[in-house]
Amino acid sequence: MAKRRSSFVCQACGAVSSRWTGRCESCGEWNTIVEEVVDGGVGGGPKTAIAAGRPAPLSSLSGESEDAARIVTGIGELDRVTGGGFVVGSALLVGGDPGIGKSTMLLQAAAALANSGKRVIYVSGEEAVAQVRLRAQRLGLADSPVLLASETNVETILATLQQGDTPHLVIIDSIQTLWTDRVESAPGTVTQVRTSAQALTRFAKKTGAAVVLVGHVTKDGQIAGPRVVEHMVDAVLYFEGDASHTFRILRGVKNRYGATDEIGVFEMTQDGLTEVGNPSALFLDQRDEDATGSAVFAGMEGTRPVLVEIQALVAPSPLGTPRRAVVGWDSSRLSMVLAVLETRCGVRIGANDIYLNVAGGLKINEPAADLAVAAALISSLTNAPLPSDAVYFGEISLSGGVRPVSHAALRLRESGKLGFASAYTGRIAKSDGSETLRLHEFSSLSELVGRIAASAPPPQEPSED
Ligand code: TYD
Ligand code: MG
Repeated sequence: MAKRRSSFVCQACGAVSSRWTGRCESCGEWNTIVEEVVDGGVGGGPKTAIAAGRPAPLSSLSGESEDAARIVTGIGELDRVTGGGFVVGSALLVGGDPGIGKSTMLLQAAAALANSGKRVIYVSGEEAVAQVRLRAQRLGLADSPVLLASETNVETILATLQQGDTPHLVIIDSIQTLWTDRVESAPGTVTQVRTSAQALTRFAKKTGAAVVLVGHVTKDGQIAGPRVVEHMVDAVLYFEGDASHTFRILRGVKNRYGATDEIGVFEMTQDGLTEVGNPSALFLDQRDEDATGSAVFAGMEGTRPVLVEIQALVAPSPLGTPRRAVVGWDSSRLSMVLAVLETRCGVRIGANDIYLNVAGGLKINEPAADLAVAAALISSLTNAPLPSDAVYFGEISLSGGVRPVSHAALRLRESGKLGFASAYTGRIAKSDGSETLRLHEFSSLSELVGRIAASAPPPQEPSED
């Protein structure tokens, strides 16, 4: 009998090592190494000599090319992120925290396509058929002709999919519950997840069905993260949001057939997910206009301008090492803005506790938010409310300068549409100017600091009694 070989696989990043360690040397996570038997499975290598291959035809880059055929769901926010619908014969991964709404969104997409006459198969490995039906009833989709199965074995699933006509769309919910006879590891381990995803991706390529894989992202590394699947599929979308807010953001992080910087915005309601056509209005909905430490950032998400409120609180710190808490932005970027304020603008801010929050649970990763963050910080520090009808955008350089950013015209147009009257920003090209907004252009951050500080209320005299 052949000797069984096992290897030690990190469940967080998929790195393989020859011995067990407490900490993965590749990604640094603790307690994520699990022993997996590889003999006969993936990575086991061919048992017989490799058969001689047949040469593949070679061609040039300049030949004819067709646009990928797509299946349009009619859910605009989803189609925008996929780049115009699911691509025929491709595999797509939808990742996200448990409970964020992946199953809900995909059931809605499945129903929309099934209603338009497409053959759609929804395989749930997590919920029984009755549970999925219950959800469909709740969403008002019970009459839609989606074909349903509750199954976790990959071979059974493939056999089911090969029955009858090739499906247009297959949804597998979720990839972590699948297991295949071909490998011996437990369901949910990296080897199982990878082998299952490979089999389903191959099915998509071979038959021309669009396959959507759902993957949970967990922080504790017990279940293999969908990261190991990312390089196998054609597109990866992440569904984000925080459980205490109703809206959800679908973000493309990889797409072989389109742009990756688009987002789709949804709101979770009693009747499932509804599309949010104008996210700025939603993000600014509950803004307290007279509060200090609040600045509106005119940002871009892909090709779409999105306005969002940035809130800062600067409070005297009782601690030797002041606290820094950031939600929705990069904390090292905050440190940089603070250092520039301190060194280049002479603002004594470093000894305070600082809290920064992007309202509504949106995550911003644009450097253009620097100026809005700085304005919110100064406003909170000096107790000077910012004009409520102003937006801020601009990148701050280490020398204390304000750099212009891309898409100024789009940002200004969106701000004007939402009723804002002025914009504080870096220098703007003439052609990008705006007729509706008053522009305040700054080339250095200290000018903006001086401007905000000048409107601060006089410091209160200590009372004499
Ligand atoms: P679900 O789609 O099951 O999340 P995932 O598949 O990502 O784990 O969504 C679960 C949450 O959504 C659950 O907490 C309840 C909520 N929800 C609604 O608020 N409205 C609805 O119509 C539905 C179906 C779910
Ligand atoms: Mg689910």
